Formats: sequence, C-alpha cells, structure tokens
Amino acid sequence: GLLPPFRNEPSVDFTRPEQRAAFAQALSQVRSRLGASYPLFINGRELTTEKTRASVNPADPGETIGHVSQAGPDEIAQAVTAARDALPGWRATPVPDRAACLLRAAQVARGRIFELAAWQVVEIGKQWDQAYADVGEAIDFLEFYAREMLRLDKPHQPPSLPGEDNRLLYQSKGVAAVIAPWNFPLAISCGMTAAALVTGNTVIFKPSSLTPVIGWTLVELLGQAGLPPGVFNFVPGASREIGDLLVEHPEINVIAFTGSLEVGMRILEKSSKATPGGRHVKKVVAEMGGKNAIILDEDADLDEAIPAIIASAFAFQGQKCSACSRLIVVDALYPALRERLVRAVRSLRLGPADNPANFMGPVADREALHKIRAYMDLAAQEGQILYQGKPPAGAGYHVPITLVEGIRPEHRLANEEVFGPLLALMRAADFDQALRWANAPPQALTGGVFSRSPANLARARREFRVGNLYLNRGITGALVGRQPFGGFGLSGTGTKAGGGDYLLHFMDPRCVTENT
Ligand code: NAD
Ligand code: ALA
Repeated sequence: GLLPPFRNEPSVDFTRPEQRAAFAQALSQVRSRLGASYPLFINGRELTTEKTRASVNPADPGETIGHVSQAGPDEIAQAVTAARDALPGWRATPVPDRAACLLRAAQVARGRIFELAAWQVVEIGKQWDQAYADVGEAIDFLEFYAREMLRLDKPHQPPSLPGEDNRLLYQSKGVAAVIAPWNFPLAISCGMTAAALVTGNTVIFKPSSLTPVIGWTLVELLGQAGLPPGVFNFVPGASREIGDLLVEHPEINVIAFTGSLEVGMRILEKSSKATPGGRHVKKVVAEMGGKNAIILDEDADLDEAIPAIIASAFAFQGQKCSACSRLIVVDALYPALRERLVRAVRSLRLGPADNPANFMGPVADREALHKIRAYMDLAAQEGQILYQGKPPAGAGYHVPITLVEGIRPEHRLANEEVFGPLLALMRAADFDQALRWANAPPQALTGGVFSRSPANLARARREFRVGNLYLNRGITGALVGRQPFGGFGLSGTGTKAGGGDYLLHFMDPRCVTENT
C-alpha cells in the first residue's frame, strides 16, 4: 500500500501517569535482566568469544549491565567475508523490499520503546525523557530513510535528446563499516546502519565499547525485520584491536563514522591508503565534535534564553556533539545574565538517571571523568570559576556543573571540545565581536542566537557559519527530516543525517545511455 508521509515519533509525556508507569516498569524489567551475556552476530548466527568485556552502569560502576563477547581479527575477517558474500543478493533486492525491512524494524522498536529507552538509563546514564527521544529518533531514521530510498528509486532522469534514452541509476557502494559513538547509542547507530542497508550495502556494525548492550538491541530489531544472513553483522570489540583493521580492510568500501575529531581524522587518513590489489577509493562519512556557541544579543529575552542555555549546555551532562559549550554575551546584558544564570543552575538537582527528578547524572566513564576534571582545572587557570556545583556522593562518575567566565577566543576552553557540563562565558564588546568569536574555532556544528533585532538575526543567518543554526531556541535536539543534522569544518565531512542528501553518500551513481 501507499506509505503515509513521514512524521516524527511523538516525544514522551511524563505528565501522563500511564507513561511514567510504563517507563518505571520497563526499568525494573531491564534491571531483572542485568548481567546477561551477549554474543557477536555474524552471518546470521550468534557467536560467543572466549574474551568478554563487562559493560557497567556509570552511576554505579559496580553494577554490570552485560558481559559482551569481543571481536578480534578472526571475527572481523569472518564478518567481512559474510558481508561480502551477502552483497550481490542484497544489492539485487528490490528497493521496496529493502525499505520494508526498515519499516518492520521501526514497528518492532515502537512496540519496545520504553524498554529500549530503559537500557540507556542503566548503560549510559541518560535521563528518561532523553533516552525515550533517542529511541524515537532511531525509529525516525528507519521511517525516513525507507521513504528517501523509495524516492531515489524513481530518480529525476537527465534530459534526453530524440534518439537517446539517458538514465541515472544508483548502486550501493558495497560493504559498509558502521562505527558508532555511545552518546546517542541507538539513534546514531541505527541511523547510519539503516542508511547503509536501505541503499543496498551490507553492514558490519561496531558499537561503542560503552554501549554494546544497546548495540545488541539493534541486532534484535533488525533480526525481526527479516534481513538475510550476512547483511547485518555485529562486532563489538576493543577499538585498539579491531579499529584500524576494519578501517584498512581492503574489502570495506564505505565507512560511516560518528565520534571524536581525533578518531575521525585517523579513520580518514588510514582509509585513504592504497592497499595491494585495492579496487576502490573508500568513502568516509565522518560526523565529529563541536565547540558550539550561543550568542546572547544585548536585547535577548532571558526568560526564554536561560532554560534553553541550561538544556543545551547541561542536558545529558553536556555530552552531546550539539551541546553549547560557549556562551558569548554582548556586554550590556552580561551582569543580568550572569546573575540569572547562576541562580538557575544552582537550583538543578543532580543524581543518577534512574530517578527522573534528577536533571543531571553521571558522565560516561572514568576516562571522561578525568578528562572533564582536567578541563575544569584548566578553566580556573584560563578564566575565573563563576559557579561550581557539588557532585552527588557515591561511586558514580559524577562531575560538578561548572561555569567559567573571562574566557577569550585564544584560550583552549574556547577551542577544544570538553564533552561535559562545563560552560565557558565570553563577554563580547558588541554583536559584531560576538559573531566573530562564535565563528573562530575550526569546528562548525551547531550554534544559536538570542536576539530581538531582525537585522542581527538576518546577519546571523548569513554569517554564523555552522551546520545547524538555531535562532531564539536551544541548539540541541535536531529532528529527523526537519533539521538535517551535521557540521563541516573540523566537525565533519558535511553530510546531513536525517536529510535529503544523506543516502547519496552510500551509493555510486551510474549513467546508462541507449541509442534508440
Ligand atoms: P570516539 O571517537 O572515542 O569513538 C567513536 C567510535 O569510534 C567508537 O565506536 C570507538 O570504539 C571507535 N574507535 C575508536 N578508535 C578507533 C580507531 N582507531 N579506529 C576505528 N574506530 C575507532 O567518540 P565517542 O567518545 O564514542 O563519542 C563522542 C564524540 O562523538 C564527541 O566528540 C562528539 O562530539 C562526537 N559526536 C558527533 C556527532 C555528530 O553528529 N557530529 C554525534 C554524536 C557524537
Ligand atoms: N542530533 C542531536 C542533536 O541535535 C545530536 O542534539
């Protein structure tokens, strides 16, 4: 039948008691299943390895979420063989059938949405509403890319003169490696995977080592979607052992990566090396970090701006590529902003994400904790600490919300991604300088402006050069289809997840001309 037009999955409404109850129940259901063992999934079969790794709850590292089999070189070789062998059949599968697999997976995910969200609360410390939104975004990617591929299957044909017939066709690139981060553990993994699959590539998916149990849920969703063996393979494992191996493998054609600048640049470098007998240039889609700024113009409405700043800077502990880490305030507004912001931040409640009353929970792991603390020390050297909260007690990886002022464009805190709840306040002389400072770092992912001046908003549209610019609202939470997401500069290769151009990165176009 005809597909209804794409619509975003509705967000959760915790003012409705039945939705709160459903989440709480899902959380206890998930808790009753903690500590299970998870295999790899290669060529349609589960595969257990001798070596396993424990995935733990960052709010309570003594709590093991699951014991996960670890792929090494042998398993990567098996997965690549399986994906390569499955390629001809999957590539020849008609687009409507491939799209139908995505739609079935979306349906399964919708039926499990509370439970899938609950895994994120325990495995990575994501708050209830945001965990639910992540699953909603995963469903959106499945629904959206299914429709996009159906659209591309009937491409606008190039003009033909009388006596010729020109046709533009798209074919899949081949075998895709999907390398995913932990911060949107289902949505981003599912989005990159869905795009690769629906365009006719076979996939080897490596989840982040911090969220492999959530990664396994993608195996379950796609398993119920009816993919043939070898089309989708799941290989959790240590990146130092299998990262380069996957990236350099001569039989991998396309790499979809989302993660840090450091790893993304390494992948770009390694993947471009010619291999003996190599037959293609590897395509790399790399979505990387941000150093995102919100500008507050002198007439900004603080009632609107303060909640948006807090959500953008500190939701999910500031661990979003889209998060606000610089607040650039035009001079005249600075004293009022400073006072109002500190007051608002002071009232935030901190603690583990399983209690939905807590605004902010633990950061991802011990390494993140140390890195963020080091940046907090640096903040005290480069600027002046304006506010620092008290992290909750306990063994969790908690860091305090921190506001630092006196940061200037040349400081490291104005240029390096912290990926934690540390917001740098920068006091600019005027809107002109604010805009210049906003554009200064090499990253270009998200940005925002609060202003009542139509002229300044128009100027920001033209001159504030980031992948996703938001005027008079927060700068996180891009929606599939409505706000195609991704940056350029050192933030990425300029691809837009959830947008109309995205699928083209996973295919090679061919033009066939017949003399008629
Ligand atoms: P990361 O770069 O540490 O890891 C990302 C993935 O790469 C993981 O699966 C990891 O195991 C793997 N990896 C690590 N070393 C590798 C290697 N040598 N070869 C191959 N793979 C390797 O990033 P992270 O900590 O998981 O995620 C946080 C980062 O991701 C932040 O910088 C954030 O800004 C960025 N991010 C960007 C976007 C975006 O859309 N632009 C979205 C989410 C996150
Ligand atoms: N797409 C996510 C956001 O916009 C990263 O916050």
